[in-house]
Amino acid sequence: MKVLNVISVVCLIVSASSWAVGQTRGTPKEGQAVYKQYCLRCHGEKLDGNGPEAQYLILRPANFQSQSLLAKTDWELLVTISNGVLFTPMHGFRGRLTDQQMLDVLSYIRSMAPFNAVG
Ligand code: HEC
Repeated sequence: MKVLNVISVVCLIVSASSWAVGQTRGTPKEGQAVYKQYCLRCHGEKLDGNGPEAQYLILRPANFQSQSLLAKTDWELLVTISNGVLFTPMHGFRGRLTDQQMLDVLSYIRSMAPFNAVG
């Protein structure tokens, strides 16, 4: 009986966590609108860091298509979107975007630049 309980708890954890990490739970279509409004001017239409305002920045905006960014996890990107990068024009969006909007924009980025750990 005990063993059965343990097995069912393990199954529950496995299924719950695959749901949690398996997808970002954002909607790329909603995210695209968020991206256009808040990110495009720096990160660019093609997500390559070449937005219209990028030329005025000393520090280039991140290129989401670069190998180093493709290799970052959803979690790493989300933390940056939320908190920003200190001493850079990349300000945190917590407070300006809702959690759902941040998940949406993340899923849009991932739909255009899918996670790729090895290249
Ligand atoms: C004012 C210009 C600007 C805007 C607007 C902007 N960013 Fe950035 N972003 C930057 C710059 C510059 C960097 C590079 C920081 C660095 O190299 O340390 C960056 C870095 C990032 C990174 C980190 C990449 C890494 O190296 O891990 C993420 C993720 C990111 N931006 C997402 C977004 C999202 C999503 C939005 C819109 C909600 C957005 N940014 C809006 C300028 C901007």
